[in-house]
Amino acid sequence: GLPARVRIHEVGARDGLQNESAVVPTEVKAEFIHRLAAAGLTTIEATSFVHPKWVPQLADAEQLFPRLSDIAGVDLPVLVPNARGLARATELGVGRVAVFGSATESFAKANLNRTVDESLAMFDPVVAQAREHGMHVRGYLSMCFGDPWEGPVPVAQVVRVAKALMDLGCDELSLGDTIGVATPGHVTALLAALGEAGVATEAIGVHFHDTYGQALANTYAALQCGVSTVDASAGGLGGCPFAKSATGNLATEDLVWMLRGLGIETGVDLDRLVVTSNWMADRLGRPSPSRTVRALTHK
Ligand code: HMG
Ligand code: MG
Repeated sequence: GLPARVRIHEVGARDGLQNESAVVPTEVKAEFIHRLAAAGLTTIEATSFVHPKWVPQLADAEQLFPRLSDIAGVDLPVLVPNARGLARATELGVGRVAVFGSATESFAKANLNRTVDESLAMFDPVVAQAREHGMHVRGYLSMCFGDPWEGPVPVAQVVRVAKALMDLGCDELSLGDTIGVATPGHVTALLAALGEAGVATEAIGVHFHDTYGQALANTYAALQCGVSTVDASAGGLGGCPFAKSATGNLATEDLVWMLRGLGIETGVDLDRLVVTSNWMADRLGRPSPSRTVRALTHK
């Protein structure tokens, strides 16, 4: 059956803004995150402590994070690829971090300049140290369905890296459809295989990009398999600069519209969120691609 409540892991400020060609000013990012919190989102991924040359869009992480200190009752996870990233985050008092691995060699190389196993070795001390500091650790796994260089990704290959991330001590695993090529049957097959491999469904979140318009259908398939953590980005912002053909994430508004219709609680005020996504779209100079945002926008 379907869950009674879904926890939305909002990624617009990180996955969304990392992919903008223009660097968004720090104060605009801070206001965006405050508005997302005011709309009822309780997990808002704030930024990444990655190499500033790799992702200049998020090079202001040190300036941004302290501006969020007045937001109460909201988890503000950040991405950290390595020990340097964790040290930067720890200094600012971050409580939740995410490492980000890949199921494919091509993307591990493009995104982290490492092989899959070298990236796992890089994450090992990061996860251990973060847990020692009492932090919650999410493990992202990219290219769980298809890869722009390698094509369809075998389920067994995904399961191997997923298990390895969980064995490092991650509290949570987010299954990334980085380029948005998944379809619902593939989602069901991967979740079944992960279940057989002993990865608890309660620890799994899904992260769909919406390139082929399948993100909602994929989400529904995951909910039917018992998943209750869903990643989405306000207004459908998003993409990955290191994965050609990556487009925006599942729009949070599209997700909330579907969940509301299903009677599933999210705590999100949809009207307020639409106003926020339109405000952000104005800052970025182009309209939101979300169908729900457009439908609920009355000009
Ligand atoms: P590298 O070039 O191999 O780095 O990059 P290195 O380890 O060789 O270090 C080189 C220099 O960088 C050193 O400085 C380090 O201190 C410095 P030097 O000693 O030469 O003066 N350095 C750093 N500085 C600041 N912060 C750091 C840091 N690390 C090293 N954290 C590295 C390796 C991992 C750093 C690089 O590849 C990187 O930053 N990659 C980030 C890529 C990224 O952010 N991608 C987007 C997020 S993933 C995503 O979007 C997918 C997701 O949404 C899920 C999905 O959709 O599938 C999550
Ligand atoms: Mg992503």
